[in-house]
Amino acid sequence: MKARARKAEKMVEQVRHPQHVAIIMDGNGRWAKARGLPRTMGHRRGVEAVREAVRTARHLGIRYLTLFAFSSENWRRPADEVGELLRLLKIFIRRDLADLHREGVKVKVIGAREGLPPDIRSLLEEAEQLTRANEQNVLVIAFNYGARDEMARAMRRIAEKLVTGEATIDAVTPEYVDEHLDTAGIPDPDLIIRTSGELRLSNFLLWQAAYSEFAFLPCLWPDFDRKAFEDAVRDYAMRDRRFGGISREIAS
Ligand code: IPE
Ligand code: IPE
Ligand code: MG
Repeated sequence: MKARARKAEKMVEQVRHPQHVAIIMDGNGRWAKARGLPRTMGHRRGVEAVREAVRTARHLGIRYLTLFAFSSENWRRPADEVGELLRLLKIFIRRDLADLHREGVKVKVIGAREGLPPDIRSLLEEAEQLTRANEQNVLVIAFNYGARDEMARAMRRIAEKLVTGEATIDAVTPEYVDEHLDTAGIPDPDLIIRTSGELRLSNFLLWQAAYSEFAFLPCLWPDFDRKAFEDAVRDYAMRDRRFGGISREIAS
């Protein structure tokens, strides 16, 4: 009985809850193609999946949810598709911002602001401003985001401080680099989910993913529902994260 109780205790211990889940929302185009629809229709359905993912994250008590919505490389797509993605972001913020705010969600945007159309920039700033004091949940929107871009931006900021004497070379530690990334103040993602079956990061959170767990799911983004999210979180809970150390099973 004692042994069984101990085992149960260990199981509970193992059922770790992710504090931060980041999602590479991929497969909108293929979802549309499979139905004989234009790619833009896949993106529209993708927005519905975004809403459901935000709801599910709140329901599951996941404090930080990061969504990769537009990469620094996505400008390579046809102009009408890029236009539609920008339009959908605007619609999402206009329609959903008030609800997010009411639910206590803080919106944070990561990625380069330069190069974005002024109306998008001001909408993103408005979303951050309005929700800045919220503490319940944090929705991080990665828009015009690329990890290499972000790291280069951080390096420029640090170099500036070194040149002006505001910082010394010895001050440049991993923690110091963290503080200069777009994600400053946000814990590293515990779990990174990518839909659509692709097995790559596509320039997403390269620095922050050092010890993240990964879930590469075959489903296309518009099909990613509450159950798929819950299953991924349940699967994560069974993982043994060692961070370079040894298993907790062995250690105890
Ligand atoms: C993800 O779906 C949305 C963005 C990258 C903005 P895709 O548009 O990449 O869909 P696939 O990968 O072509 O199916
Ligand atoms: C990654 O998906 C970017 C987003 C989900 C916003 P992509 O569809 O752009 O990635 P690749 O081109 O297949 O690597
Ligand atoms: Mg894709």
